[in-house]
Amino acid sequence: MGKQRILSGVQPTGNLHLGNYLGAIRNWVENQHQYENYFCVVDLHAITVPHNPATLASDSYTIAALYLACGIDLDCSNIFIQSHISAHSELTWLLNCITPINWLQGMIQFKEKALKQGENVGTGLLDYPVLMAADILLYDADKVPVGEDQKQHIELTRDLVIRLNDQFGDPENPVLKMPDPLIRTDGARIMSLTDGTKKMSKSDPSEMSRINLLDSPDVITKKIKKCKTDPVRGLEFDNPDRPECNNLLTLYMLLSGKDKATVADECADMGWGQFKPLLAETAVEALTPIQTKYKEVMDDKEYLESVLRRGRENAEPIAQATLARVKDAMGFSKPL
Ligand code: AMP
Ligand code: TRP
Repeated sequence: MGKQRILSGVQPTGNLHLGNYLGAIRNWVENQHQYENYFCVVDLHAITVPHNPATLASDSYTIAALYLACGIDLDCSNIFIQSHISAHSELTWLLNCITPINWLQGMIQFKEKALKQGENVGTGLLDYPVLMAADILLYDADKVPVGEDQKQHIELTRDLVIRLNDQFGDPENPVLKMPDPLIRTDGARIMSLTDGTKKMSKSDPSEMSRINLLDSPDVITKKIKKCKTDPVRGLEFDNPDRPECNNLLTLYMLLSGKDKATVADECADMGWGQFKPLLAETAVEALTPIQTKYKEVMDDKEYLESVLRRGRENAEPIAQATLARVKDAMGFSKPL
């Protein structure tokens, strides 16, 4: 039996932050050798909220370069840009026509984002999870590594598989493959530095709420110095009254690579004045090699383009084959 297949992606909106890295990309990197991997830059998703056409292309390259900088290994992984493979949009249309609209209206992320958009909510924002389902299903992905916030979208994807197979498949020979989410418990939800009850997010208006992978050591140190804490001495995990404390200790644990018991023990008697410089130093140490590699990749645009070209060449035939299978099952005539 061949290796199981992984598909995941990140939107090219703004800079990647520690939530994206610890919740998603780090897991892709750690597990990649067990799987056959497809990692896309989901630029079609990025236009579901108002976007800047002057930076969309360069933002997509930045994300692809960050994938490489974080350690994606091209021996087992493919990196490509979603919009370069038109099957993503086409399968979305086919899936749209079997998706009950109320499934989409109830999605947590849609409701949150729609609220932020006010009057200006595009149809694409409502349809976002169907496009994500198309991404996953085109590649017959077995597993989808994401942060906790994407769980509901993967559940919708699974519901669509059942629905399409029921309506158009035969039970012996399903049209679409059922994917499973792959969500780590540690780091699945990294919280904001300014409010330990809100997730760290690209869309938070305050830069102080997140650490970006490309922040300079000075900026990282300043953000940690100013981050929200509490007046209690002694640091602990899992106290619901101390969300900031749990989040900062989790960051320290994940960035240092130490286990939870070791960190709990090491920090049990620390005050914030001692802990913050330690966390800052650990974060800088963890991010410096990523930044160095990122610069190398960005300095060699030809190389990056060759990576994206090869990624697309490997991904496209798989996507086209699935699209043809779905169209056939749905009864379309074949192109002449
Ligand atoms: P996005 O920035 O929305 O494109 O998210 C890309 C990936 O990062 C997805 O797998 C998300 O689940 C994950 N992610 C985003 N924010 C966080 C966070 N604060 N904590 C953990 N994972 C996150
Ligand atoms: N919606 C995901 C996010 O914001 C990004 C995404 C798009 C994705 N398509 C995907 C993740 C397919 C996994 C698989 O995080």
